[in-house]
Amino acid sequence: MTTAKIPDNIFPTAQEPVHGGDTACALWFTGLSGAGKSTIAQAVLRRLRALGRHGYILDGDNLRAGLNSDLGFSEEDRVENQRRVAEVAKLFVDAGMVAIVATISPLQDMREKARKTIGADRFIEVYIDTPKQVCEQRDPKQLYKNARQGLVRNFTGIDSRYEPPSQPDLQLDTTALSIDGCADHIVALLTSRGLVQAAATAS
Ligand SMILES: Nc1ncnc2c1ncn2[C@@H]1O[C@H](COP(=O)(O)OP(=O)(O)O)[C@@H](O)[C@H]1O
Ligand SMILES: [Mg+2]
Repeated sequence: MTTAKIPDNIFPTAQEPVHGGDTACALWFTGLSGAGKSTIAQAVLRRLRALGRHGYILDGDNLRAGLNSDLGFSEEDRVENQRRVAEVAKLFVDAGMVAIVATISPLQDMREKARKTIGADRFIEVYIDTPKQVCEQRDPKQLYKNARQGLVRNFTGIDSRYEPPSQPDLQLDTTALSIDGCADHIVALLTSRGLVQAAATAS
């Protein structure tokens, strides 16, 4: 792949300060299918809205239906999928938003690349930690059942690898925490880092 040189004159607006830009960040979720990424992302977004913050969910399933519809689940395609998601998340963060990224993001190296793309100071890794047995019991999309029957190939945790993060910014055990409890922890982390204002001071 060749990398085109970016003309010097196309960046001026992007370099101007954006409203909310100094508190924009990417919440980069990682976890198995059925771990609760999409569900918790929605709960976090509702809270951000209540606090007057702009956020947007980049959900793996939605992106695979559009931007990434040409990609499958081989490791090569997963790497490209994650590269595109990271680039899109970067644009949302550049635009001053909290980008909530809800994809499996199975490999450490993919997440490290995303961290570099988005910027380490704006990248918050959240491990949605749900054991495979629990995900398989939940099986909200019947994917584990289909994978066990051989109807779905390259399924993370069955015949495709998952590397848990070694040092996530936040690790949420969804067998011990409710959906709201997980959202509480995420908003508390953002608040402690000065990325959102606490509810009491939000106007
Ligand atoms: N503590 C919890 N946190 C998140 N999801 C939970 C929790 N307890 C039960 N669930 C359920 O688990 C399922 C997770 O599905 P989903 O959010 O689609 O997972 P993912 O996006 O990680 O594939 C949902 O049906 C959700 O209601
Ligand atoms: Mg999901």
